[in-house]
Amino acid sequence: MTGNDIDRRHRFAQDCARQAGAIARHYFRSGEALSSAEKGRHDPVTQADLEIDRFLIDQLAGAFPADGILTEETGGSPARHLWVIDPIDGTLNFARGIAHFAVSIAFCVDGQTESGVVYDPVSNEIFTARRGQGAFCNGRPIRVRAARGPSDAIVDAGYSLRHPAADYLGLIGNLLGQGYAFVQNGSAAMGLAAVACGRIDGFCELSLKSWDVLAGLLLVEEAGGWTSDFPHGPGLLENHKVLACTPSIRQSLQDLMLAATTPRGETLLSSR
Ligand code: IPD
Ligand code: CA
Repeated sequence: MTGNDIDRRHRFAQDCARQAGAIARHYFRSGEALSSAEKGRHDPVTQADLEIDRFLIDQLAGAFPADGILTEETGGSPARHLWVIDPIDGTLNFARGIAHFAVSIAFCVDGQTESGVVYDPVSNEIFTARRGQGAFCNGRPIRVRAARGPSDAIVDAGYSLRHPAADYLGLIGNLLGQGYAFVQNGSAAMGLAAVACGRIDGFCELSLKSWDVLAGLLLVEEAGGWTSDFPHGPGLLENHKVLACTPSIRQSLQDLMLAATTPRGETLLSSR
């Protein structure tokens, strides 16, 4: 696959994200598709998630029939050329009428994310990154913030019931103990976009899926931040710890996450 092939997909992903976001916005404003079924405790899926998932699969499979597709609601399997999609990241917010959710689309080649798009349909902000070409919000370049240290930093510490509460409490305790401010805004994709554009300084979560984070991780990387590696191949279907931040607090956050969760000797997060 050539750079031009990836560029074409990067542009197409942005069009698709905007259209998908328009569907989400319509449902969000009308309240029509906010009722939901539960996939798990505090883990809903709405009619809008399913409709957008189908819409994106149809669009991408129609334009690029040889590419693989992995989505939150339909699944899929790893492939050399792979779309990884979350139709709505932050579904719990969406379902409760809280305007903090996003469409997330990543495109990967041979185990590396090459294009990432996160679209917030309520604020109409589109965050985009193409590997090696920087990160942008609505076409303007974005950079991570140069935090001076923990007492100058806000970290989004995402939470789900997939991970033991004790570990999460340990993590929050460690963050507060070091002097960080923390938030839990309920969308990993949006949290990572916020790091990329310097609104906050770090994002971490103990257990996340590839569709929640691949696009956002590339945003942070291309905005000058540090990110943990997310395993590709079969690892794309599993839960992993995720950390992304401005470089000045990388060591401190990495140590915090290790202290909160890791049995002695385990390597938790690899650095780039
Ligand atoms: C969730 C969001 C949330 C995170 C959860 C994810 P979903 O994804 O990213 O911020 O804390 O772990 O499951 O279900 O809204 O796509
Ligand atoms: Ca989702």
